[in-house]
Amino acid sequence: MLVFSSSKSIKDYISTLRKENSIGFVPTMGALHLGHLSLIVQAKTENDVVVVSIFVNPTQFDKKEDLNKYPRTIEEDLKLLQSVNCDVVFIPSIDEMYEDKITSEHFDFGGIEFEMEGKFRKGHFDGVGTIVKKLFEIVMPQNAYFGEKDFQQLQIVKKLVEITKLPIKIIGCKIFREKDGLAMSSRNIRLSEEQRKAAPFIYQTLLDTQQKFGIINANEIKQWVEEQFVNNEFLKLEYFEIACEDSLKPANECQEKKNYRAFIAVFVNDIRLIDNIRLGN
Ligand code: PAF
Repeated sequence: MLVFSSSKSIKDYISTLRKENSIGFVPTMGALHLGHLSLIVQAKTENDVVVVSIFVNPTQFDKKEDLNKYPRTIEEDLKLLQSVNCDVVFIPSIDEMYEDKITSEHFDFGGIEFEMEGKFRKGHFDGVGTIVKKLFEIVMPQNAYFGEKDFQQLQIVKKLVEITKLPIKIIGCKIFREKDGLAMSSRNIRLSEEQRKAAPFIYQTLLDTQQKFGIINANEIKQWVEEQFVNNEFLKLEYFEIACEDSLKPANECQEKKNYRAFIAVFVNDIRLIDNIRLGN
């Protein structure tokens, strides 16, 4: 496994491989878990060479405190990457990616950037778009892999390659869950024992939503979900939304015959967890 920190060196190296090998790419912010590894394993089966980046991107955090507390576990990450036979790892510094200007490019993602995460995390998707574009331009993979846990991000990245006309196929991968249903996330390691025990309630609520969908309407489900969190000692609901998969608009603004998903964001003290589930089929 080769580890690079310079964009020029990794770019030069990948260009020597490109002629005879397909390149799969998994961008991450590190603190790797089985969810990330499942993306890498899928990328390994579909490409000759797999590149993983680890970079905690400052421009996608709206709160400095959240950025500072984001887990950083480089040594363990490298061991995990070895264990799944990752070929190339890119770990750039902030200077390498942003030089002296840590700012986001502004994107028009056609409106999906203003829904849900976009409402609650100002500038988040400009930050994601900025870094993913920079990474794509360095790695220039054929295929790039993103988890469906960040479903809105996945849609944003699909839009990004459309806007930038980068010839990269974006592949969404199923959410990887702990045995008790909690969606795997780098942030989970920050949960205390008690908070960790409380957290599977998020997925349980999504499963209940799935049962209710089609029986009561989206607004009634939303109200029901809000009530479930009112007296929860550990979990504070930030938002719950039922939205179309493509436009991400709330269900009541969508036409019929669309695919719908329920989306949820919850605070466990200062740890923010998100999850989502497909509804209807
Ligand atoms: O999902 C993530 O880990 C990040 O948002 C990404 C895609 C690596 C961009 O920083």
